Amino acid sequence: MAKVNPYCAGAGSRPPVLAGRSRQLAMVENLANQFEGKRPAENIVWTGLRGMGKTVLLREALDHLRDRGWLAGYHEVRRSAGLGASVASVLVQGNAALGRGKLTRTLSWLRELLGAATLTSSVGEVTVKLGLGQPGRVGLPEDALDALFVRLGEAAADAGVGAVLLFDELQLISRHDLSALLHAAQAAEGLPVAFVAAGLPDLPGQISAAGSYAERLYYDRVDWLRPPDVREAVAGPAAEFRVHYAPEALDLLVELVAAYPFFAQLYAEETWKAAGTPSDRPGTVITSAEVRTAEGPARHRLDEGLYRIRFEKASGGERAYLVAMATIADGRIPSGAVARQLGRSVQEVSSLRERLLQKGIIYSPAHNVLEFAVPGFAGYIRRRLAGELEV
Ligand SMILES: Nc1ncnc2c1ncn2[C@@H]1O[C@H](COP(=O)(O)OP(=O)(O)O)[C@@H](O)[C@H]1O
Ligand SMILES: [Mg+2]
Repeated sequence: MAKVNPYCAGAGSRPPVLAGRSRQLAMVENLANQFEGKRPAENIVWTGLRGMGKTVLLREALDHLRDRGWLAGYHEVRRSAGLGASVASVLVQGNAALGRGKLTRTLSWLRELLGAATLTSSVGEVTVKLGLGQPGRVGLPEDALDALFVRLGEAAADAGVGAVLLFDELQLISRHDLSALLHAAQAAEGLPVAFVAAGLPDLPGQISAAGSYAERLYYDRVDWLRPPDVREAVAGPAAEFRVHYAPEALDLLVELVAAYPFFAQLYAEETWKAAGTPSDRPGTVITSAEVRTAEGPARHRLDEGLYRIRFEKASGGERAYLVAMATIADGRIPSGAVARQLGRSVQEVSSLRERLLQKGIIYSPAHNVLEFAVPGFAGYIRRRLAGELEV
């Protein structure tokens, strides 16, 4: 058997075993069952910190829906592009997946509805041009999006399937587009069309500020993994090669992973290398000494990648805020304590705090409480300050 590493640390990289997400997958299956049974279902919103596995969940949902023959498409929202571009891209992918023919009428209607083309999306053989309101402005008129959802729902119902738009990084959407999306979802109620969206933890707040339909969505958190899930994520892919972990090795990995899905891939990937890539040696038992050997390279990848990138994305003032946090503690910190550490009032530093929250570098697990969004970040900052790292 070839020498391969089954783990995959990286944004959006599908894990070999998607552990601990049965509740979220059941939400998608339930939505599909409801629509196929001609019953209503709620639009889904998943929230979580970076690295929790939102993107890979959306991709899993996409596969599930397409396997059922549904029209479904994935799109990562960008700040620079409006909802029109997102919807166009989802529809084109969805149509390509369904094959030519089905729902084509709806797509040509869309072309007519939206007039002159200012945007082109194409996947495979299918090209759709969507005119997007006033030339030069990428944004759909609100009522056009309502009509689009309704027509899409009707076309899907005719074809005996559902249509689902999967939006990633929805927190980047503009307020205007978000309220248009909520309005459209409401207009299409009763039809088999829905969206499944993922975003950072403050997304529900943005949604409720954008429209009254907000409380009709089905929210769920994509959260830290429980220890048995970490064990499954790490041991499951190895078992396929008949490679196993000694109990102490697995315990140590659970500790290092600190419940964070991205770390499950990172530490397992480095441990696999430290054990000499045992995919071609069935019967191998990975030891805790090999996990210990992997710690250094894993830490190095974090220091040079994730931690460094996040720290350097912060402005001078924001860095001072992060340093103050790192000086206080690793875990939960009252925001008042950070202000005191900086010798300022809570109000004076609130804009720094907000920007760091928006960037997803820190988060607020409870009112007036802050925490670093990635485990180990406080330690990185302290090592950086102590001059232990090249900067
Ligand atoms: N449930 C899970 N079990 C194991 N690994 C996971 C799980 N969810 C995500 N991962 C891994 O975590 C990393 C981050 O996933 P990603 O979907 O990019 O997170 P997000 O979109 O929330 O930032 C990837 O390397 C992925 O393989
Ligand atoms: Mg993501």
